[in-house]
Formats: sequence, structure tokens, C-alpha cells
Amino acid sequence: MSALLSPEDLKRQALANVQDATESNAENPALTALRDSSLAALKAAVFPGRKTEQWKYTSLQPLADGHLNRRAAAAATPADLPKLGDYRLVLVNGRLDESTSALPDGVALIALMDPSNLDATPLNGKKIAALSMEFTPRITRAQSMDALSSQSNLSGYRSVIEGAQIYGRAMPMMMTAAGTIAPAKVFIMGVGVAGLQAIATARRLGAVVTATDVRPAAKEQVASLGAKFIAVEDEEFKAAETAGGYAKQMSPEYQAKQAELTASHITKQDIVITTALIPGRAAPVLVTEEMVKTMKPGSVIVDMAVSQGGNCPLSKPDEIVDVNGVKVAGFSNLPARLPADASSLFAKNLLAFLPLVTAEDGSLNLDTDDEIVTAMLLTRNGETVNERIQS
Ligand code: NAI
Repeated sequence: MSALLSPEDLKRQALANVQDATESNAENPALTALRDSSLAALKAAVFPGRKTEQWKYTSLQPLADGHLNRRAAAAATPADLPKLGDYRLVLVNGRLDESTSALPDGVALIALMDPSNLDATPLNGKKIAALSMEFTPRITRAQSMDALSSQSNLSGYRSVIEGAQIYGRAMPMMMTAAGTIAPAKVFIMGVGVAGLQAIATARRLGAVVTATDVRPAAKEQVASLGAKFIAVEDEEFKAAETAGGYAKQMSPEYQAKQAELTASHITKQDIVITTALIPGRAAPVLVTEEMVKTMKPGSVIVDMAVSQGGNCPLSKPDEIVDVNGVKVAGFSNLPARLPADASSLFAKNLLAFLPLVTAEDGSLNLDTDDEIVTAMLLTRNGETVNERIQS
């Protein structure tokens, strides 16, 4: 197993993207709207989740430098935070990090904050009201605020672009006088928001696409995009979706049947894209080392679940490793490889949410029974108030 592209190479590539996007996205309407919105009345500041030089592909922070920060009512860096005494709301463009230890006491905070792994103690110590963008409920009214969806959609698209690039061969069938090129076979594992966009993208590029998921609802969606659905459709499969629309953890028996099916299918694939996640748990292993070794040299695995442990145990965050000629790529922050779009959609998610925590006079109001706000509120007045992180 050898590294083809180091984390430094990937970082260089992605930072080049960020710089390009900074130039091209100067008049992004969502960001202008954010600046002109009620933010000033809210006494809000926008600050980045991580400093660029510390960037480890785990945050959308570089987007803030070029986009959200520049246009917001007030922009701050972590160093500015202690000075923001009269600010009541802090918006983080992307993922929260350690620098929030500098947050002023008693502010409200809206960010992506990986709530399943969050230590709420420092937030409670400062009596911070933390609202997690990840906990936006999956109800129709909240769709425009759903940052996981907006970012997953971009990730799904980008995963295919990256996969095709690493594959390095043609995706569509080509019939030429010199001979015929067979279309690439692409297999998408996990068909949520990212997986559906990956199917659509691979189809547009002309690949022959198959897909799998444990949720029965995925079957029809896959077919509607012109791909073939492959899954173990037993009794457990029929009950595998939670009320919130997410997948359940499957039994060892189901996983064994699923592995058998995957093993026979995967040997014929050129590009495999894995997106399978279970909220609050490590990602399920779907592509074992043995399966990778049965794949053709030149084929590619893009593991989108790499930062949650990975759907393939051989993937490494922000590396492309070579396993007997099979390239296993682990991208831990695909939205950051589309920075202008990621930043724009994240800003729109924030904008859509702000009216829910704003009183008529434009001030911040967290005293609301709105189910969206209560679902997202993790801590308040020094206490953890969300049962999803209390246990
Ligand atoms: P996710 O990011 O949590 O997981 C990705 C996919 O992996 C899911 O489709 C999941 O079923 C699948 N998966 C999990 N374990 C697996 C396994 N062992 N084998 C194969 N696949 C496995 O999912 P995401 O993208 O958050 O979407 C979940 C559902 O929620 C989708 O149906 C989506 O359309 C829906 N949704 C609804 C919204 C709304 O109503 N407002 C907003 C966003 C998504």
C-alpha cells in the first residue's frame, strides 16, 4: 500500500480552489443578503471555524475568509472574540473548533459542531446557547436551513468528479472508427442526499450506474435516476428507516448477507463511491480489504465516510492509497473542493434559519417553542438541554 497523493498535495489543490473562488464569487447574492439582513440589529458576528493554516479538511473555514466574512455585518477572527462584548450572536461559517474557548460569555452560537462528539462542558461554563446546524430537523419547513443536505449534495457531485479524475479513463461509451470504449461501471453505496447526486452526476457523464442502500425508500429514487438498485431486500431491510429518515444500524446477520452481495458485484466495478453514514455512530464497513483485493487494477474507491471511520478500512483521510493497483481515496471535506458553492449554500441555510430566532424588533429571541429551534438548541444558561447529546 503506497500513498499516491499526500495530504500536502491535496491541501495545495484545495487552497488553489479557495483562492479562485474568492475572486469569482465576489458578488454572491446570498452573501450580500446576509450582510444586509437583520444581522446588525441582531448584534451578530461571523467568524471562521479554523484558521486557514491549521486547516485539516475538517471545516469549511477557508470559505469564510473569502466569502462570508468579507460581506457579513461584522466579521471576526478568533482573536477578536473577547472584544465582542456587546455581540449577542456568533455565526460560524462551517465547523466549530477549539478557538471558541475565546467566545464571550452568554452569546448564542450557530455552527456545524459535530454534536455527536461534542463536549458541551466549555459551552455550559460560558452559558453559551449553542444551536447545531446538524440537528436541523428533516421536516419540509426546515429544508432551506438544512446544511447537511446542502453540503452533502455538493459532496456527492464532487465525489464523482474526483473519482473520474483518479480513474483517468473515459466515462461514457465511445464508438469510434478505431474501436469501442466500454462505459465506466460506477457503484454508489449509500443513497442519501450525496449518493443521489453522485448517481445523477455519474449518469450525466455516461457511466453505467448501480447503487445500494439499506432504506427501502432509496429503491425507487435510484430507479428514477436511471440507475439499477442492488440490495438484500429482506424483512429487516423493510424496517431500516428511522422516523427521521435516517438509516438504522443493521444486524450482523444482515451485514453478512450484504457483504456477500457486495463482494460479487464489486469485482466488476471501475469506480465505487461510498457515502453510508449512521448518525451518531461510526460509519458501517461496506468494502472490506478482501473485496478491494478482488477489484481490477486501475479501479477507484472514493470513501466519503472517511472522517467517520470510513466505509472501507483501507481509506485514509485526505490520501489516495494504492492497494494492488486499486486507488482508495479518502476525502474528508469534499464541499471545500467547491468552495464558492459550499459557502453560498451555507450562507443561505443560515439566512433561512435566522428569522426563527429573531423577535419583531430584530433582536435575538431564543424563547420560542418552534420545533426547529428546540431540535437544534444544545445548551442554554449553563445546561445541556438537548436529549440527543445528554446521554
Ligand atoms: P446519511 O448521510 O445519514 O447516510 C447516507 C446514506 O447511507 C443513507 O441513505 C443511508 O440510508 C445509507 N446507509 C447507512 N447505512 C448503510 C449500510 N449499511 N449500507 C448501505 N447504505 C447505508 O443520509 P442523508 O443523506 O442524510 O439522507 C437520509 C434520508 O433523509 C434520505 O432519504 C434523504 O432524502 C432524506 N432527507 C430528507 C430531508 C427532508 O425531508 N427535509 C432533508 C435531507 C434528507
